[in-house]
Amino acid sequence: MAEKPWGGRFDGETDPRVEAFTESISFDHRLAAVDVRGSQAHARMLASVGLLTENERDAIVDQLDVILSEITSGQFAFHVELEDVHMHIESALIERLGDIGRKLHTARSRNDQVSTDLKLYVRDSLDTIDGLLLELQRAFVSRSETDLGVILPAYTHLQRAQPVQAIQYWLAYCEKFARDRGRLADCRQRLNVSPLGAAALAGTSLPIDREQTANDLGFDAPAGNSLDISSDRDFLVEFTSALALVAIHLSGWAEEWILWCSTEFDMISLPDAYTTGSSIMPQKRNPDVLELIRGKSARVIAATNQLMVLLKGLPLAYNRDLQEDKIAVFDAIDTTVACLELAPAIVNTARLNIDSIADRLEDGFLDATALMEYLIRLQVPMRTAHETVGRLVARCESDGLKLADLTLEQFQEIHASIDESIFDVLGTTNAVAILSSQGSGGPDPVSHSLAHWQQTLGLD
Ligand code: ARG
Repeated sequence: MAEKPWGGRFDGETDPRVEAFTESISFDHRLAAVDVRGSQAHARMLASVGLLTENERDAIVDQLDVILSEITSGQFAFHVELEDVHMHIESALIERLGDIGRKLHTARSRNDQVSTDLKLYVRDSLDTIDGLLLELQRAFVSRSETDLGVILPAYTHLQRAQPVQAIQYWLAYCEKFARDRGRLADCRQRLNVSPLGAAALAGTSLPIDREQTANDLGFDAPAGNSLDISSDRDFLVEFTSALALVAIHLSGWAEEWILWCSTEFDMISLPDAYTTGSSIMPQKRNPDVLELIRGKSARVIAATNQLMVLLKGLPLAYNRDLQEDKIAVFDAIDTTVACLELAPAIVNTARLNIDSIADRLEDGFLDATALMEYLIRLQVPMRTAHETVGRLVARCESDGLKLADLTLEQFQEIHASIDESIFDVLGTTNAVAILSSQGSGGPDPVSHSLAHWQQTLGLD
């Protein structure tokens, strides 16, 4: 049985059920690479301040590389009695280097160590997720080029509201994911101070150089207060909250397309590669991937909650409860990455059902607001124009007509100065064409936004 690094003051054996209960190696083994990175920086610092010789430092740094490659290639055996990834790596080092290995943990505790590992791990994951979000934004921009000129109904309350260029939808998602990337960048900046050197909770009397380890590991500075450091998991809450918003955005998009690919909407077709069939109903083609993107968002949202509940009652410094943080964080990362890896492919390959959309584009009075604004341009007060168009819509509805079917004479009954130009705003194509305000769904503003995104995302 492996000897416990903390075994000095214990005579009796640990109950195996306690070992199984307290272990974290089953999930924190994925911190191995960042743990080694942190330990190597720590060893280099110990050598620069004279707490290790250069030879000792080199032996430690090299052996840590060997241990890591064994872990990565699956040749390294884990034992629950060694609790966690930190103790596994340190024990292996001691087994191989003897007294030299026993020096690595000088002026360090697993408390500042695990916090450092988590920050490095979150920083790397955050960069991966940022890259995946960029790819998804690019997919929406690329399909904007394909769907140039297509008009879609836009909905409020899931009722037909006004027409927009299809691209307005795709660029709306670019905006959401840009905000997500901004939140990740904020989180990255705030987390980027080094915990190393807080040791257990009070710092150390040994002459360590916290600036050096901070620099070595790419942190901007050492974190300020040793008591705060090992209890600080704010960065995990911020990170998973940012991921929760990514998941919420993905889920909203998935829901929209799930609706759109139903027979009722018939607006989009998903390719075979991203749909599945039913085991009993031969005709079915189900949007399972989108449904699971929607469903899995629950796990990411829950992770933030799990972390906040975990943290809310903890006094300062390290408490073992914190070990549970990794379960929530890893699941939030894995789930978000899995969804983001599939999303761009779906965005790239789905096809708008142009004919079916166009066939029904004149249903639902999508041009009513355009007509109201025409009246406003004739100096009719907005509320009066709204009421007037409302009455016209009711009349058309009961007569089975579109607004564009009314005659000039009928329009002139509501306002004497209406002329032929009214027909330039009626009908969906006209109603979109006249949308001109900045950020609106009209052709010019949309082309302007598209150019902006092509440039921002390096696609021009
Ligand atoms: N496995 C522990 C965790 O993940 C590492 C820190 C343990 N520290 C301690 N003093 N027992 O939180």
